[in-house]
Amino acid sequence: MMSRPGAPSPPHRLPIPRRPAATGHRITHGGTIQKRGSFSNFPIKTPPASRQSTNTGSSSNQQLNHAPLPLPSPPASAELGLEAAMQPDANAPSHRLARVAAHLRPQMEEGAVAFALRPAVCRAKGGAPGFKVAILGAAGGIGQPLSLLMKMNPLVSVLHLYDVVNTPGVTADISHMDTSAVVRGFLGAQQLDAALTGMDLVIIPAGVPRKPGMTRDDLFNINAGIVRTLCEGVSRCCPNAIVNLISNPVNSTVPIAAEVFKKAGTYDPKRLLGVTTLDVARANTFVAEVLGVDPRDVSVPVVGGHAGVTILPLLSQVTPPSSFTQDEIKYLTDRIQNGGTEVVEAKAGSGSATLSMAFAAAKFGDACLRAMRGDAGIVECSYVASEVTELPFFASKVRLGRGGAEEILPLGPLNDSERAGLEAAKKELSESIQKGIAFVNK
Ligand SMILES: NC(=O)c1ccc[n+]([C@@H]2O[C@H](COP(=O)([O-])OP(=O)(O)OC[C@H]3O[C@@H](n4cnc5c(N)ncnc54)[C@H](O)[C@@H]3O)[C@@H](O)[C@H]2O)c1
Repeated sequence: MMSRPGAPSPPHRLPIPRRPAATGHRITHGGTIQKRGSFSNFPIKTPPASRQSTNTGSSSNQQLNHAPLPLPSPPASAELGLEAAMQPDANAPSHRLARVAAHLRPQMEEGAVAFALRPAVCRAKGGAPGFKVAILGAAGGIGQPLSLLMKMNPLVSVLHLYDVVNTPGVTADISHMDTSAVVRGFLGAQQLDAALTGMDLVIIPAGVPRKPGMTRDDLFNINAGIVRTLCEGVSRCCPNAIVNLISNPVNSTVPIAAEVFKKAGTYDPKRLLGVTTLDVARANTFVAEVLGVDPRDVSVPVVGGHAGVTILPLLSQVTPPSSFTQDEIKYLTDRIQNGGTEVVEAKAGSGSATLSMAFAAAKFGDACLRAMRGDAGIVECSYVASEVTELPFFASKVRLGRGGAEEILPLGPLNDSERAGLEAAKKELSESIQKGIAFVNK
């Protein structure tokens, strides 16, 4: 892949990755480019100018001079203001490379954002078939490791990283991982719509975390507004996406999101899922410690909500079936309910759970993607619109399907202490839900 002296300069100097494979092509020894996926048997001769263009590593910091991007079925040129895209030479090698560049770094020029991120265009991108996933709050403590883990997920073809700070750096960093998902970064409110357009799954860890001494509800005033704004974007740009909501207080932010979607006329309760997977991960870990077994072999249903007493582990339903002493039940229930506080205090002011939360969110996101693909029998706990109690939202086991939470499973038989825990959980949950609904409707 050396450049050839004397060859004509391409019209655009492009910050192209050295390996065009990230675009869904691979270069064979014979100098042909083969597309991956459904076009894998369709070799395209690589013209010399194109090959030389891929060697302009020194230009990687230059702004792109975006050329019109050729598409199989381009939208009306008048609509796009890209008449040149319809010109006969639109498939010239330089244009192909410009398309790659615009697609990898759409935030560089506003015009390119508008063009490159239309749903029809997005669908044609990506290194492999798969889902388009956006992470909102991607530069944060949870967002960064979550972005890394989602970049590793083979079901993700396009990964959009959005935040109000630092996404260029996080995106550049993560985009060098040689996994198939194509990563694009979006910075600031003016790029929210571009980040969301065409997405299948939106994961939201945006917002402030707790400091020692704070409850999750203390975050309400800041995070409620952030979640409202981001969900308005989801309604505008990807109303059919499944939303995984992480921002605290989850007990209130999920009702907030539901109200936003209702106002926009896009609400589908199945597609809005509050992420409580970390409570389950903690429960599995702590129970496994007590039992002296591998946590991967343990499954503890955790129901109710995601704060204090609303986190209700159903220890009578642990798999494999296990019995616990009263002391063990008290120890485990306290530790599971206060696992978040344990981390907040250990971090001593520098934040709350981020790494374990990213792990949990990636696990839940993967479960959603597998269900969206059509895998059967995927059951996870999640805080969703529900009828298992008299409350409008409740966390319990849900069966995930192509459309999100397809079925909400019953709580199953509870023992006396769990029934008492349920009553305490419902009381607090009811107030948190009302607070969320009132915030949007005030
Ligand atoms: N559901 C759970 O189990 C769980 C567990 C842990 C933390 N959390 C919650 O997750 C949230 C994030 O925690 P963190 O530790 O990553 O916090 P953080 O402060 O490290 O990161 C939050 C990120 O959100 C970004 N952000 C702020 N406003 C935004 C906006 N309007 N649009 C997009 N991005 C915005 C910030 O710039 C930051 O990068 C907190 O609310 C925290 O309480 C939830």
